[in-house]
Amino acid sequence: MNLLVTGGAGFIGSAYVRMVRRVRPDDVVVNVDALTYAGNLENLRDLEGDPRHVFVRGDIRDGAAMLELMRRHAIDAVVNFAAESHVDRSIEAPEPFLETNVAGTVRLLEAARAASVRRFVQISTDEVYGMLAAGAPGFTETSALAARNPYAASKAAADTFVVAFHHTHGMDAVIARCSNNYGPFQFPEKLIPLMILNALDGAPLPLYGDGLHMRDWIHVDDHCAAVDAIVLGGRAGEIYNIAADNERTNLDVVRAILRLTGRDDSLIRYVRDRPGHDRRYAMSTAKIRDSLGWRPRHAFDAGLAATVSWYRDNRPWSDRVRSGAYRDYYERQYADRLAAARPAGG
Ligand code: NAD
Ligand code: TYD
Repeated sequence: MNLLVTGGAGFIGSAYVRMVRRVRPDDVVVNVDALTYAGNLENLRDLEGDPRHVFVRGDIRDGAAMLELMRRHAIDAVVNFAAESHVDRSIEAPEPFLETNVAGTVRLLEAARAASVRRFVQISTDEVYGMLAAGAPGFTETSALAARNPYAASKAAADTFVVAFHHTHGMDAVIARCSNNYGPFQFPEKLIPLMILNALDGAPLPLYGDGLHMRDWIHVDDHCAAVDAIVLGGRAGEIYNIAADNERTNLDVVRAILRLTGRDDSLIRYVRDRPGHDRRYAMSTAKIRDSLGWRPRHAFDAGLAATVSWYRDNRPWSDRVRSGAYRDYYERQYADRLAAARPAGG
């Protein structure tokens, strides 16, 4: 199979690309990523020199370029991870979320249709269902969309387009809605890597509001395995929830990180709450378990401990992210190719 993975230099996309190369070595992965602040080619270091991983710096909003890529590589399936992904940024500046998450997804759908791509998998989120009341059973795939922050609104809008392309054009499109991910290579603006790095440094840990908001955590590799099960066996037009039943308050997560890093609660700082901060997200995952046989493999406590160890052992990666030095990597890696592509005398 020839796969087009978008956003494959980000946290989850890069884990998915690595996994596909490992489990299906004959598949070709064309990895297109705009390398925004969140894209980091160092996440893909393992794949340097791999002839079946083709990295292309490109923007999903550029429909003509996406169509050309799909045709040139005879793409069988598109897996769309590319997105603006951070809620706090969407509160500060929603436009890039509208542009990439909505317009970008629509242009990618149009390109996939024009190229007669067999399958389109949209990577969505539990946040499209909105907030869940304490004690209420998890959302199912038929629950209504009720997004409450600009990031979630943009993902819900994209999902609606994906469903519309399935119904209107008969496109084989499938949606995966996952809960909060953690694991190696996550950009340290998100809760878990931010708190791990601050704890390792002995710096304050900023908890929003009362710290009792709940998220349901899943290891990134379990998410990627679920996405792959959907790519291979999901039914056209269906939605699949993905989660691993690890609901924790943010305070519990932060305390676990403090224990794993040998620190105590004195590093916790309660700071001003995020505007419109959703108290709880949770979903039922009976559908993907029953129909595709997927199961999560990582227990949260062990997965979190391994993640803390990863950040401790990979300080050069996070130092380069925090200093901004990671952004030169593309130019350095691709300098020869870029020079060769420049017109003579140009
Ligand atoms: P991320 O921010 O780490 O990575 C996003 C990637 O997309 C980056 O490499 C970035 O350069 C790229 N990108 C952004 N705009 C682009 C554009 N216009 N064209 C091409 N590439 C572009 O995000 P992530 O955490 O890896 O999330 C990946 C996907 O999974 C997103 O769609 C997100 O909504 C979804 N998701 C994330 C989580 C989570 O907990 N992180 C949970 C559920 C769903
Ligand atoms: P985040 O990792 O941004 O993911 P999301 O908002 O998509 O769930 O945040 C996870 C939870 O942690 C969320 O309830 C907000 C909270 N949080 C903090 O308390 N402090 C922080 O510095 C950050 C980044 C998040």
